[in-house]
Amino acid sequence: MTAPPPRHFLTLDELDPGELRALLDLTGRLKRDPDAFRNRLAGGRLGMIFHKPSTRTRVSFEAAAWMLGMLPIVLRTDELQMGRGEAIGDTARTLSLYLDAITIRTFAQASVEELAAASSIPVINALTNEHHPCQALADVLTLEEEFGSLAGIQVAFIGDGDNVCHSLIQAAALGGFELRVATPPGYEPSPDIVAAARQRATTTGGAIILLHDPAEAAFGAEAVYADVWTSMGKEAEGETRRAAFAGFTVDAALMAHASRAAIFLHCLPAHRGEEVTDEVIDGPASRVWPQAGNRLHTETALIYALITGDLAGERLR
Ligand code: CP
Ligand code: NVA
Repeated sequence: MTAPPPRHFLTLDELDPGELRALLDLTGRLKRDPDAFRNRLAGGRLGMIFHKPSTRTRVSFEAAAWMLGMLPIVLRTDELQMGRGEAIGDTARTLSLYLDAITIRTFAQASVEELAAASSIPVINALTNEHHPCQALADVLTLEEEFGSLAGIQVAFIGDGDNVCHSLIQAAALGGFELRVATPPGYEPSPDIVAAARQRATTTGGAIILLHDPAEAAFGAEAVYADVWTSMGKEAEGETRRAAFAGFTVDAALMAHASRAAIFLHCLPAHRGEEVTDEVIDGPASRVWPQAGNRLHTETALIYALITGDLAGERLR
């Protein structure tokens, strides 16, 4: 008898609303009582492939694995044969023999899909050019902790319609909140991701609104979200992007358009003085540190749920 294929976490679209609820509930339990989960996956091994730099993702996953009793193994590009041409599929088949799950941060989403297709253990997308689903999990937890519920809230995303924005769009569709995205012309999110999210949002009460005016997006919003203007791998476009994104800085004047109690979120790292001013990121509205802290808790829950094969949280009820 062959084992059933593992569940992967490649985009937020793979979760249904019940699984998101179960993951957030598990995260809450883990956050309140980490000792109850300490060493629950003792003897397990987590491989972590990084083709791009990382502070939060690397350290939070490594700390999460250690807390669950696992051995975390960080694998950078120059440490794997994949970096000198070994097929992604062969890498997946090999790592599946030694590990219990793999996280991968790389460039193309297609590479993560190729890895997952040949892997007999769960694969977690730790950021690609197209998606950052682990970030979105921490984002929705932070929003829920702040507002009690995702339903009915309005979030403004100001900036580049790439990975973080795409995962937040999928989060709005999954979690049932309104996301208004303001980008400069030419930097809009993928039409396919937006169309699929709008379709899903019809069943959850979410909404995705695309704009080009940051003030219009921020108007009355409960949360204003920023990401860097120049993502990893796009450094050569830095100057062009700084010109294109002029007027898209989240500053006190832009925050004044949002709801009076609005919070500020940022996936980090921040380029202070570009997409956000010191005044906002260090000000009373900022929740960027609790948001970054939540990465640890959501990722501990994610590893646990995927490795135990219990994304629906049935065995924890
Ligand atoms: N937000 C985020 O993924 O940060 P790192 O690039 O530091 O991992
Ligand atoms: N959009 C950013 C997110 C970093 C966490 C990037 O890809 O560099």
